[in-house]
Amino acid sequence: SFGIVCLLSVVQMVRHAQTAAAPAPEPRIKKFQVYRWDPDKSGDKPRMQTYEIDLNTCGPMVLDALIKIKNEIDPTLTFRRSCREGICGSCAMNINGGNTLACLNKIDANTSKPTKIYPLPHMYVVKDLVPDMSNFYEGKEQYFQSVEDRQKLDGLYECILCACCSTSCPSYWWNGDKYLGPAVLMQAYRWMIDSRDEFTEERLSKLQDPFSLYRCHTIMNCTKTCPKGLNPGKAIAEIKKMMATYKEKKAAAS
Ligand SMILES: *[C@@H]1O[C@H](CO)[C@@H](O)[C@H](O)[C@H]1NC(C)=O
Ligand SMILES: *[C@@H]1O[C@H](CO)[C@@H](O)[C@H](O)[C@H]1NC(C)=O
Ligand code: SF4
Ligand code: FES
Repeated sequence: SFGIVCLLSVVQMVRHAQTAAAPAPEPRIKKFQVYRWDPDKSGDKPRMQTYEIDLNTCGPMVLDALIKIKNEIDPTLTFRRSCREGICGSCAMNINGGNTLACLNKIDANTSKPTKIYPLPHMYVVKDLVPDMSNFYEGKEQYFQSVEDRQKLDGLYECILCACCSTSCPSYWWNGDKYLGPAVLMQAYRWMIDSRDEFTEERLSKLQDPFSLYRCHTIMNCTKTCPKGLNPGKAIAEIKKMMATYKEKKAAAS
């Protein structure tokens, strides 16, 4: 046991030595050379601007560095980003010669090499790293929506289909093969009330049977549990109302 005690105290001494002696980590200053151009500023010419970031105080991705520059050094730096996890595509830019997503691109930790950041190539530039995507997105038709109609989607479009609601619902536990469950029903509703959608009746007609929709007994576990604070229970209640009107209309027509 002397050996164990001895080993323990050696470990403790080493730990002490480490904590006592731990100096502030050497800063790891990395240069980021970023394309800057503001066409709204008269006479402004495209140029590269260099920013220095201590990698010890920065997240691992190039987007983290851009956000740090914007927050702490230069709020005029302009770039697009939204999801910061490679889903939305809005942070696409040219980093060290390659087109990539800034949020998925690891900062090269070699501090003697600056990271060069340009907007996507061969596109008109709106400002700094923001390319004009209107040509890219141009379709044959644009579906306009009024502000009021757009607001009807609030509280619905935010659903990430995580399944927390459906899996907390006793009706879904017992009839998951025939009852669609709160997540899917709220999706259905999200389309039914979208002014741009033209298939409301078709969607309703698929929910007429006793299970798809009507196995909802308003237990409301779904709404209690939704981590995004959404209300699938309310969406289902709204579908039930629409369904009543739909059935009346159908009965009147026949
Ligand atoms: C860092 O980059 C410099 C300049 O390109 C290069 O000479 C050096 O070998 C690199 N260091 C490492 C650890 O890769
Ligand atoms: C859902 O509701 C039931 C019955 O009301 C309850 O016993 C259960 O704990 C709830 N489950 C979850 C996961 O919320
Ligand atoms: S719990 Fe909320 S976010 Fe998750 S699937 Fe249900 S409604 Fe969507
Ligand atoms: S911020 Fe969405 S893909 Fe990068």
